[in-house]
Amino acid sequence: MRLIKVSDEEELSRMAAEYVFSKIKRSERIVLGLATGRTPLGMYRHLSKYSKEYKQSYSHVHTVNLDEYVGSRAYHDYMQQNFFDHIGIHKNQTHLPDGNAVDLEKECKRYEEVVKQLGGIDLQVLGIGENGHIGFNEPGTDFSSRTHVVELTESTLRANAKYFTHEKQPRKAITMGIGTILESKEILLLAAGEKKARALRELFQGTINSDIPATLLNHHPNVIVLADEGARSLLEEES
Ligand code: F6R
Repeated sequence: MRLIKVSDEEELSRMAAEYVFSKIKRSERIVLGLATGRTPLGMYRHLSKYSKEYKQSYSHVHTVNLDEYVGSRAYHDYMQQNFFDHIGIHKNQTHLPDGNAVDLEKECKRYEEVVKQLGGIDLQVLGIGENGHIGFNEPGTDFSSRTHVVELTESTLRANAKYFTHEKQPRKAITMGIGTILESKEILLLAAGEKKARALRELFQGTINSDIPATLLNHHPNVIVLADEGARSLLEEES
């Protein structure tokens, strides 16, 4: 695991966008795994700007998102507003789990098949939950798990309550499994702010265990972590 230290959220956003954009520019075809939430917002803003400046085509880019709430399209809307609307990517090339599917188990299987048919994920962008979740794989999730329905923990519900002013906050979500995420060829994890410091300390200095799902990333050979000062504040080398 490679740690890249940045000073603040703005530098993190810019560096993440530069990294992802260079991959998009250099590849003939690329499958990007994407995250939602507060942390990657700046990255999407910069990526949208670069794409306009360089008139970047997205015809060779496919995206698969990590998760969606059950009974909601909150993350579909987020992706549309913060990224897809700005880059001219064809809708057929963007994928998210359908939280409104009648048969959720079937939807999980369909989503796994989507990832498989695309040939797997080349670069997966991740955020990290205060409790160490990745995607919505909450503490206790098995390391070989595939796309599944989860009951969100109180910590996650609290952290995300602010986004549900217009609809009732769902208590369940569909998430790509840890096994699915770990099959990505490369992972870029973004961590900003002191609220993520405990999870980051566990990631780098804790034991690998499913109570802090992010620690399972230590099993992956190609992970870059971009972390700002706040997120690094509990790492031993920082004190
Ligand atoms: C979102 C996701 C989550 C978030 C995490 C951090 O698609 O998969 O794991 O990355 O909850 O969220 P923020 O960035 O809002 O702190």
